Amino acid sequence: MNNFVYHNPVKIIFGKGTIKELATAVPADARVLMTYGGGSIKKNGVYDQVAAALRGRTVLEFGGIEPNPRYETLMKAVEMVKGEKIDFLLAVGGGSVIDGTKFIAAVARYAKGDPWDILAKNAAIEDAVPLGVVLTLPATGSEMNCLAVVSRDASQEKLHFGSPFVYPKFSILDPEVTYSLPKRQLANGIVDTFVHVMEQYATHDLNTPLQDRQALAIVATLVEIAPKVLSDRMDYDARANLMWCATQALNGLLSCGTEGDWATHMIGHELTAFFGIDHAQSLAIVLPGVWEHQIFNKAERLASYGRIVWGLDQANTIERARAAIEKTEIFFISLGIGTRLIDYGINEDGVKKVIERFRGRGTMLGELKNLGADEIGRILHLRL
Ligand code: NZQ
Ligand code: ZN
Repeated sequence: MNNFVYHNPVKIIFGKGTIKELATAVPADARVLMTYGGGSIKKNGVYDQVAAALRGRTVLEFGGIEPNPRYETLMKAVEMVKGEKIDFLLAVGGGSVIDGTKFIAAVARYAKGDPWDILAKNAAIEDAVPLGVVLTLPATGSEMNCLAVVSRDASQEKLHFGSPFVYPKFSILDPEVTYSLPKRQLANGIVDTFVHVMEQYATHDLNTPLQDRQALAIVATLVEIAPKVLSDRMDYDARANLMWCATQALNGLLSCGTEGDWATHMIGHELTAFFGIDHAQSLAIVLPGVWEHQIFNKAERLASYGRIVWGLDQANTIERARAAIEKTEIFFISLGIGTRLIDYGINEDGVKKVIERFRGRGTMLGELKNLGADEIGRILHLRL
């Protein structure tokens, strides 16, 4: 096991009717800016619950943060934070609103030059406006981590940053708010959570049996609850379990002492940046390709996953690993998510664009740092 430091300061307030806890979680004398997305919270009662909990407080609003939050929009919110002397941000939404709010929080206290450098050049952040979260979409884990992903229209880029300054002070997770989610977003949440776990699990074996079992416990739970989550019944426990799986998948615990892959996410971000597909859709396309391409490096892990999660029993490790990849793809398709580039109208020309972007960057991806532009091209050709 590798050395590690683990410190996660996010207070989780979980369960039915917990949005009212905002009354004590948000500092009483704060000037609050509540951030949200395209308006789902105004239709499903979440906005009203937040307003009721914060009645009598100074609360301004910034709506319209898009899925895959846009730099251009977030910079408008930064102006508002500065102009209105906001000292607490409350993100009410899914990963996009939370990520966008983390970026707003960081930029509002960033005085070193071009804020885009935080994403493009990994410029250090030394402070951020404190933020809290009301989560409405279980998927990204952003509610309990210090990461954020921001897109920029002008350059068709989608880049991430991370800083301990943008950990939420608290996150309220009420599974009932997920009842209004369309099936596509629920399926996205299952896939994103699944891929977060497997990006951490399907790598080197560093003799970490606890983390390995924690990882596969999340994946096995997802496979078990997926039909209940997607059924028309409002199954509270299924939604609660999905929500907790999603948070656990990317709050740093699974990666303690281990080495992550993250190639699927990095390639997927480019597909979203160029073609606008949902984050989870991009992952469902790329993950089987990365695994197939890296089968000889990942065979042991994939075979174990196949045995434990899918009950596969092929004696030959490579054969079992291949069957596990096939099971995974069938699982994604069963959720209604296309796993091929062509399902989203992306063709050979689209693949070329992604290859050229990675060639320009010159970075190598994967836990072995063995995936450059040519290998990424081969992976994407497997997914046409
Ligand atoms: O904008 P509104 O109107 O709220 O509608 C949203 C949006 O259209 C809707 N929605 C959210 N909660 C709802 C709801 N509709 C009905 N009822 C509810 N309760 O769902 C749509 C998608 O929302 P979005 O926030 O974009 O989805 P998600 O949570 O999947 O976030 C995706 C973003 O997070 C990033 C992704 O790259 C992408 O930009 N990620 C962030 C990570 C992190 N911070 O750690 C890690 C992930 O790997 C990921 O990269
Ligand atoms: Zn993800």
